[in-house]
Amino acid sequence: MENETLTITDNRTGKTYTVQLFKGAVRSMDLRQIKTETDEFGLMCYDPAFMNTASCQSSITYIDGDKGILRYRGYPIEVLAEKCSFLETAYLVLNGDLPNKSQLDEFTAEITRHTMLHENTKKLMEGFHYDAHPMGMLVSSVAALSTFYPEAKNVHDPAIRHLETIRLIAKMATIAAHCYRHNLGMPYVYPDNSLNDTENFMSMLWKRAEPKYEPNPVLARALEILFILHMDHEQNCSTNAMRAVGSSLADPYVTTAAAIAALYGPLHGGANEQVLRMLDEIGSVENVPAFVDKIKAGKGRLMGFGHRVYKNYDPRAKIIKQAAEAVFGVTGKNPKLEIALELERVALSDEYFIKRKLYPNVDFYSGIIYQAMGFTTEMFTVLFAIPRAVGWLAQWQEMIQDPEQKIARPRQIFTGHWLRDFVPMEKR
Ligand code: CMC
Repeated sequence: MENETLTITDNRTGKTYTVQLFKGAVRSMDLRQIKTETDEFGLMCYDPAFMNTASCQSSITYIDGDKGILRYRGYPIEVLAEKCSFLETAYLVLNGDLPNKSQLDEFTAEITRHTMLHENTKKLMEGFHYDAHPMGMLVSSVAALSTFYPEAKNVHDPAIRHLETIRLIAKMATIAAHCYRHNLGMPYVYPDNSLNDTENFMSMLWKRAEPKYEPNPVLARALEILFILHMDHEQNCSTNAMRAVGSSLADPYVTTAAAIAALYGPLHGGANEQVLRMLDEIGSVENVPAFVDKIKAGKGRLMGFGHRVYKNYDPRAKIIKQAAEAVFGVTGKNPKLEIALELERVALSDEYFIKRKLYPNVDFYSGIIYQAMGFTTEMFTVLFAIPRAVGWLAQWQEMIQDPEQKIARPRQIFTGHWLRDFVPMEKR
């Protein structure tokens, strides 16, 4: 590995260059020596949408898209989803190793201590229109936290980074629950720190007049599994936003708000909401073949299908499909499941989808579970953002501490006018 090189011949000049490989990759900066004239800029890589560009080194998440493998810090996602709690997995993702009992207790106590929001955050949220989309509320409220914690700007101070990371993970769930209650026109519920993190989230969502909310343990565990599955996914669109915005040394609150904004899009975290809308549009199992034909004719996309990295079944979708059984045991079956299963069956046996390696992704079944639990469709992406904040913050910490990282600043290939003569207004 150490001495692997690449020899490049520039056919424009006939010159040959030997470039050292770095961990099996070419360092783009090594290509800059390749030029036709000495005063030329040098060769660049053109890679719209980062299809083949590694923007960082990372030790957090490993994905093998062809084999359908996902691991956090070396542990298969299937094992973590079966054996770990949300905070245990969050500790692993943030710190690199699974916690022992006292480490987990300390981490849990820290998160629990920070679940409350400043009352003014609540007031700010009260100002949103009654039907404001919860993702819009989440982006703005998380960004607003920046104004409450101005010390968060000291991103090079490890103690500050740790504190803001804990605060953000703790407060994301509280803000998310407030968004939900806001849409329902119900009073916000304060955190109940005698419950564990997932149960407390459920209490903030669904507590009514009862003195203490009693969460259903099956639903609490299903929610926890969904949160574990969504925690990190290496350099996806929102994580890339987190790293790019964070590279300017903006504080973690506004940086996380930028990542949430990226997640909101229908091609990313917004897909789970779109899957439910699509299933509504299909309406019944008999309409599935006609819908698939429409997609194949280029009219729209099958939401919850396909992935930039997975060219095999998304391992998270498999686990969610199993978790659905337990949830439906409590809530009764979501009638949309039948349509989803038929859609999957038809798509996976169709040449169009087989040829393009399009399989169900994490968003295909998650919305069906969330809907059965009682969530509104608009909340689905918020439920993605809560655990993903852990991944974003782990990636942000890694980026800040990486001596090779600088402010993210891609190059461009300029295609505009070269130099134009100014034309006064009256002559245009
Ligand atoms: N339905 C129908 N055709 C599709 C789909 C789909 N869902 N996804 C990709 N294709 C086709 C696409 O039209 C193209 O066909 P052709 O080669 O004939 O032009 C081919 O497959 C390759 O697609 P691409 O757009 O080049 O692939 P990409 O890697 O840029 O896109 C994706 C990945 C996830 C954006 C895309 O598959 C998609 O739009 N899926 C639906 C939205 C979705 O479910 N997103 C959630 C992703 S998983 C969770 C997350 O990351 O947030």
